[in-house]
Amino acid sequence: MKVSVIGVGHVGLITAACMADLGHDVIGMDDDRSKIETLASGEVPFYEEGLAALTTKVVGEGRLRFSTDAAEAVADADVVFICVGTPSRDDGSPNLSYVQAAAASVATHATSSVVVAEKSTVPVRTGERIRHALALQTQSRGGGIVHDVVSNPEFLREGTAVEDTLRPDRVVVGADSARAHEVMRRIYEPLLARHACPYVATDVRTAELIKHASNAFLATKISFINSVARICELAGADVQTVADAMGHDARIGRAFLNAGLGYGGSCFPKDVKAFIHIAAELGYDFGMLRETDRVNREAIQWPIRQLRRLVWNLADKEIAILGVAFKPGTDDVRDAPALEVIDALRAEGARLRVHDPVALEQIRGRYADVELVEKAEDALRGAHAVVVCTEWDEYRAIKPERLAELLTYPVVVDARNLWDPQELADHGLTVASVGRPQIEIPGA
Ligand code: UGA
Repeated sequence: MKVSVIGVGHVGLITAACMADLGHDVIGMDDDRSKIETLASGEVPFYEEGLAALTTKVVGEGRLRFSTDAAEAVADADVVFICVGTPSRDDGSPNLSYVQAAAASVATHATSSVVVAEKSTVPVRTGERIRHALALQTQSRGGGIVHDVVSNPEFLREGTAVEDTLRPDRVVVGADSARAHEVMRRIYEPLLARHACPYVATDVRTAELIKHASNAFLATKISFINSVARICELAGADVQTVADAMGHDARIGRAFLNAGLGYGGSCFPKDVKAFIHIAAELGYDFGMLRETDRVNREAIQWPIRQLRRLVWNLADKEIAILGVAFKPGTDDVRDAPALEVIDALRAEGARLRVHDPVALEQIRGRYADVELVEKAEDALRGAHAVVVCTEWDEYRAIKPERLAELLTYPVVVDARNLWDPQELADHGLTVASVGRPQIEIPGA
């Protein structure tokens, strides 16, 4: 089938490459000329495991090409996926002007009836707004063509996005006409033939809600365990064992029960705020989610409280920050908790040395007073404390005796529970780890 993808950012490019891999004839369109030129020259503008190889393969096979020309992209498409950004406004509501502009270009350029599929995460009832905008615009051009609007949310995680797209846990398609359902089923037939998974066919509003409900639930799971971590710290219990034991219950599950520095990234913080806003607009106060958001902000401040407790005044103290990416396996620093830790420490006058195996380029030039170092040991050497913000495997491999040797004060704030606190204590280190008994060296 002929597929067009408007917006070739993270979600759009993965959608385009995977749709091409499924055998469709795909064109990826973006207004950003430099992005399209990069893609046309065979490069992928961000890192995502397996994406560059897949893109090269499907481009080579002639099933994926790129353009800045909306007319070329939309003219004879069967399905147009809208994958543009929906950034947060100051009040938490998503800015949908890029979605509206994408819909307008479909209305302007489509030569026959098209299925417009929302992939961007949008508030419930956005489909109706898109359908209305399409109808108005089409009518103003003489009318005649009726387009369908469907909601087809993605559930891909950064770092495993290609795998999540080609072998998903479920496919969700919301449509309000039999024709649109039939077209989308044909789009996904090759995927379902390769990988059997539930195919949830529903109406547009329900599909839109599924995405926000899923992300909000996962974020709430994280805030729940971070609250349990606070209680464990007060009671002298171990949150990891609590989470492991809870996770054995199949109704709960162990995933997304890692206490730590809280959730970040381009999705959870934005989607939780958006869902609170959407609920309020519909007349429901989603207080539980306001609490999810509050607990997350508190979790991000946890290392600062620990540093004040263990190091006292932070002005002019040298602090090593290990990890900037919002999670391991990506160089993405959008809404990364580490950045808030860095801001809070700078505000207190601490001197920071920051390491990350892949994400340093993303913050180069952002702070004049923060030293970015290429090796973790260079951050640790001579520091008064270390804060672990991202659980990269290479940090896990640092031996406690090496930590003790490199640090000036033996203070470790392990905000991702990377290391075994007892093992560090056995090497003379004072350790604050999340939701576990705090171990301080007597007399330190
Ligand atoms: C998330 C969802 O997992 C995807 O299903 C969804 O499609 C995507 O958002 C989206 O809306 O597009 P992603 O943002 O890539 O994917 O990241 P996650 O792996 O979900 O992690 C999010 C944050 O939660 C990270 O900062 C991570 O460190 C944190 N986290 C995760 C925890 O603090 N504890 C956990 O147990 C799990």
